[in-house]
Amino acid sequence: MLSKTISRVPNPRKRAMLLAELYTAQEQYGWLSSDAIQQVAEQLSLTPGQIYSTASFYTMFKLQPQGQYLIQVCEGLSCYLVGGAEPIIDHIRRSLNISNGNSSSNGKFTLEIVQCLAACDLAPAIKINDELYGDMTFEKIDELLDAWRAKD
Ligand code: FES
Repeated sequence: MLSKTISRVPNPRKRAMLLAELYTAQEQYGWLSSDAIQQVAEQLSLTPGQIYSTASFYTMFKLQPQGQYLIQVCEGLSCYLVGGAEPIIDHIRRSLNISNGNSSSNGKFTLEIVQCLAACDLAPAIKINDELYGDMTFEKIDELLDAWRAKD
């Protein structure tokens, strides 16, 4: 019985490669579809369930299609204490007509609420793709959204 259990434990090297493979697949496809998860599972000789359980644990992995621009709004404690999180989230929701975790109808923006962007000294903070912005106000958000709308 024990040997059966041990045989189900994935090879540690495969597990070590899993995060890199998921990252690469997400870079290639933009998100981790069931096809991408299946592909990673086959590459590492793991089950799709094992891949999914890891991918769903980390917020950096996206299991739904993402907009061209991912807007992450922090609702962590520092951002909350300066009164920024909820008003900023509501402002972005209204401006883009989207809800948390969803994308705008043109597929350009996705809104995601996160717990901390590691920029507490800049609270309230948001991130658009890899760009971090702090001390956010409605005016700054409007300027940023206009600038990102005009891109491409
Ligand atoms: S709590 Fe908002 S950046 Fe840390």
